Amino acid sequence: MCGIIGYVGTRDCVPLLISGLKRMEYRGYDSSGIAIINDDKIHIYKKKGKIEELEKGLLQNPHSATIGIGHTRWATHGAPTEVNAHPHTSFSGDVAVIHNGIIENYSELKQALLLKNHTFRSDTDTEILAHLIEEFYEGDLQKAVIRALHRVEGTYGIAVLHAGEPDKIVVARKGSPLVIGIGDGEYFVASDLAAMVEYTRDVIFLEDGEVGTISREGLTHTTLEETRIDRKSTHIDFSLDQIEKGGYKHFMLKEIMEQPHTLEDTMRGRIQVDEGNIILGGLQGHLDALKKAEHILLLACGTSYHSALVGRYLIEEWARIPVQVEYASEFRYRNPLIEKNTIAFAISQSGETFDTLEAMREARKRGALCLGIVNTVGSTIARETDGGIYLHAGPEIGVASTKAFTSQVTVLTMLGVLLGRQRGMSAEEGRNILGDLRKMPDLVARILRTKDDLLDIAKTFSRASNFLYLARGPNYPVALEGALKLKEISYIHAEGYPAAEMKHGPIALIDRKMPVVFIATNDNVYAKVLTNIEEVRSREGVVIAVASEEDKGIEHLADHVLRIPDCHPMLMPLLTVIPLQLLSYYVADILGLDVDKPRNLAKSVTVE
Ligand code: AGP
Ligand code: GLU
Repeated sequence: MCGIIGYVGTRDCVPLLISGLKRMEYRGYDSSGIAIINDDKIHIYKKKGKIEELEKGLLQNPHSATIGIGHTRWATHGAPTEVNAHPHTSFSGDVAVIHNGIIENYSELKQALLLKNHTFRSDTDTEILAHLIEEFYEGDLQKAVIRALHRVEGTYGIAVLHAGEPDKIVVARKGSPLVIGIGDGEYFVASDLAAMVEYTRDVIFLEDGEVGTISREGLTHTTLEETRIDRKSTHIDFSLDQIEKGGYKHFMLKEIMEQPHTLEDTMRGRIQVDEGNIILGGLQGHLDALKKAEHILLLACGTSYHSALVGRYLIEEWARIPVQVEYASEFRYRNPLIEKNTIAFAISQSGETFDTLEAMREARKRGALCLGIVNTVGSTIARETDGGIYLHAGPEIGVASTKAFTSQVTVLTMLGVLLGRQRGMSAEEGRNILGDLRKMPDLVARILRTKDDLLDIAKTFSRASNFLYLARGPNYPVALEGALKLKEISYIHAEGYPAAEMKHGPIALIDRKMPVVFIATNDNVYAKVLTNIEEVRSREGVVIAVASEEDKGIEHLADHVLRIPDCHPMLMPLLTVIPLQLLSYYVADILGLDVDKPRNLAKSVTVE
């Protein structure tokens, strides 16, 4: 999902803009561009395709400036062409705009501007913003931007230049994140901390409905009603190397391999083993509400939805209260019913997923207390919820989510114990669960040490056209997650199903070309899963089984076995997902695909 970077100060901003855009490549894009101001004129450079194309063009025609803005586009209106790439300029060329989001009423605004003899170069919604700002410009760019935004419906994160105010960048946000970086005589703006963290870690997060003007002298920060805002800066504590690959071929592999550490980080300071209980700082103000809760609502998308499904098994088993898990996008348009004493958790790695944010807002409107389970510090969901739990998994750069999933499941496990202990779970049982949870990093590390075993299996099946992933109980959401991982980075079609459900249709797909991945771990449904494996084998299906290290019998049933250590049955998802992450990674890498930036995908989907 697109990226914004802006700079005003004393450095040559062109290399800074390009490197900032590169740090946001992982978010997904189809074109890029920059605008700089020199001699009170705006110069625009933009290209379709990778940032390297833009960089090549700039090297052939070098320019330097000390103020500029840059954008990576993820097209929503208008094909991914050079003309439709951002920045877009006004009629006169005096205004340049870059924009993340969607202007929903752009066609009516465009019609009105056409009646005023404006002509447009692109098919985008964004271009009308540059023209609208020019219409309202009377010598004060921030005022002109504010007047224009009062006419806009939709979402935006924007940065705007005007040739007549060559020392200023005006920024504004509604629904698409923007953060301002504070330097010494220099200011930055970006949609992602990764784009500026090497220059400054002192930042101010813009909220929806806020506008700011940055210059070498400082920041003017107001609401759209021009009420001044004086927000303290936040010091960001993640470092540059956390957003580097650390010697791995891909971010995804690095993030799979660092899960033993990220699980430690997620649990750190939160488990009271002796008391068999949990302390979650972000929930301390809501313990009474949690104790009184009669319904839990989990709202999420994609991988986060899968971790929420695991959470349902855990919370219902230990706290005995009903848990509803909803695709955020469906929830918000369904006219949902919210019972009294409902607590809604918005689960999101990025904390910016538009569907999840809007679903959370809808749940709040209907009376739910809204909490977050989020990885990105200071993200919109983290700031808009009434409290919550950070994953502390560090920035997740690979588009395919891995360490965030296991950290989300860990947080949901801790939440399940906390709610259970409020409802009669004994300290003894709490100690058992948490004692096993603390072993997870070592058990994950043990599986990762056998990662090369997956290479042969990945080679064998990298040419398959379809996969089925089947499991039961809390491993069923892992089957869904394994299928999502494979399809989103290898582009091979894969479906996850409850193993028993196979008889109700999918079994028609089984033949010798169909690899079927079963999660057959040592739990109360193991015998049932074996029956399902037999059903597949009797139709010549090829069986890949994720099974316990102790399970010797499985070798007679499965063509390939991925081994995992035994653990508490309810904690199995933290282990069974690891071989499936690695399998999808190796298949995609063998196919020579762009593992970290799969086609059509974005790391954070901030549009509907
Ligand atoms: C997962 O691998 C995908 N990248 C995608 O499904 C993702 O989980 C989904 O877009 C939700 O993102 P979030 O956790 O940042 O809200
Ligand atoms: N809607 C704008 C366009 O299609 C911006 C898309 C984006 O967020 O990158 O150009």
